[in-house]
Amino acid sequence: MTPTEIRSATIARLAIAFAVVLAANPAITARAAGDAAAGRALAFKNCVKCHGADGKGDGPAVAAEHISPPPGDWTDKEDMSEHPDVFLRNIIEQGGAAMDKSARMPAFGKKLTPAQVDDLIAYIRTFSQ
Ligand code: HEC
Repeated sequence: MTPTEIRSATIARLAIAFAVVLAANPAITARAAGDAAAGRALAFKNCVKCHGADGKGDGPAVAAEHISPPPGDWTDKEDMSEHPDVFLRNIIEQGGAAMDKSARMPAFGKKLTPAQVDDLIAYIRTFSQ
């Protein structure tokens, strides 16, 4: 092989190795979008008592448990457009306190899988579409 042939063979091998690493690592490649219907079921179980069935942040626990500040309004397009998915993921997984927000927002990282959090994010986004 000439030096040029060796170089292009090496580049081809590196490209294949890189593709294999990407395919094997879901954290590098984009995760498939969540399933909003599955997210709705999860929210009814875990979130609506505070966030409300209509996502407005006025679930029954807010008044009953004096939660102040109340959860945000997921139907507020302007507000929600300022929250990237990574913020939604972090506050759902780590809770409000970890994000310098109200500690009344619980952490669900131990209770829910990353795929379930994707489903919840997809569901939350349906309110501001
Ligand atoms: C015990 C009440 C409570 C429960 C249950 C709860 N949250 Fe929250 N959540 C809050 C409060 C209060 C805030 C507002 C924090 C702040 O702005 O300081 C909040 C904030 C959030 C935010 C940031 C945007 C916003 O609405 O202010 C997201 C996203 C969120 N919660 C998702 C969820 C999801 C998903 C669940 C269920 C898996 C859930 N929460 C369950 C109380 C709750």
